[in-house]
Amino acid sequence: DWTIENFIEMEVANIRQQVGDRKVLCALSGGVDSSVVAALIHKAIGKQLTCIFVDHGLLRKNEAEEVTATFQDDFDMNFIKIDAADRFLSKLKGVDDPEQKRKIIGNEFIYVFDDEADKIKDIDFLAQGTLYTDVIESGTETAQTIKSHHNVGGLPEDMQFDLIEPLNTLFKDEVRELGLQLGLRENIVWRQPFPGPGLAIRVLGEVTEEKLKIVRESDAILREEIAAAGLERDIWQYFTVLPDIRSVGVMGDARTYDYTIGIRAVTSIDGMTSDWARIPWDVLEKISTRLVNDVEHINRVVYDVTSKPPATIEWE
Ligand code: XMP
Repeated sequence: DWTIENFIEMEVANIRQQVGDRKVLCALSGGVDSSVVAALIHKAIGKQLTCIFVDHGLLRKNEAEEVTATFQDDFDMNFIKIDAADRFLSKLKGVDDPEQKRKIIGNEFIYVFDDEADKIKDIDFLAQGTLYTDVIESGTETAQTIKSHHNVGGLPEDMQFDLIEPLNTLFKDEVRELGLQLGLRENIVWRQPFPGPGLAIRVLGEVTEEKLKIVRESDAILREEIAAAGLERDIWQYFTVLPDIRSVGVMGDARTYDYTIGIRAVTSIDGMTSDWARIPWDVLEKISTRLVNDVEHINRVVYDVTSKPPATIEWE
């Protein structure tokens, strides 16, 4: 019968057989899926796996450090981190259309990844953390037309690799259990879904360093407070968004004219539909106070109370 232990044993055997003494490349995003795929394949073939982690400068606070600590230190993998923040930011300059932003980030990711992959000789396989729901969702017309996700099939078509997708029969909860069994840290396994374009689609409109900083700092505070309230596992995704709105406020006895930050927190099973999370008011109050006090340029906090549909989870 189906257990995680049996799954691991079977997949490790499969991967060893398929790969033989050849080499596998994996694009690590730091998300749950690619992390679990990397851990599973590493268990099967060790140093025949190389992971490439592209830091596009659009990650959450401390994320790059956590990913590096996990894979380089805990797992002792062949791990390559590329700092490409400048490349991505300069490409995004002046661009405010959401789909355009996604496209630029997706393409740039491929260029960066490709450059690096070229330097490693004799790679035959590419590992991807495709889940069962990704397979379904990318097959439906609506999911494709509403937003161009680049989770599935997001790598260059002319790359001469065979794909290894050992998670493509699993659901998210099974992937998390698998990750824990493989020895991944809880903070990686219980990470919320995070979009490939990262914070770039949470800064609405043009992405600037200043706005990225506001979103990054406010997101970190939100996560701290959600954790402190013990709500982490009850909420599917929770994050802040920065609309391009400034409004009037008062601090001390001075007038302010600064940014509004939005809090988005949703419950969901698979991200296809969602409801807004009923975060207790006292928790919201604490979050609101901290956001205004601790993050420069925020003077107003709003809470998004829309379900999906009609809204989407992300604001772009
Ligand atoms: P929406 O906003 O469409 O999001 O309700 C559904 C789920 O997908 C994530 N999302 C993305 N993931 N690339 C990704 O890899 C993207 O461009 C993208 N856009 C949205 C979103 O965070 C949610 O989990």
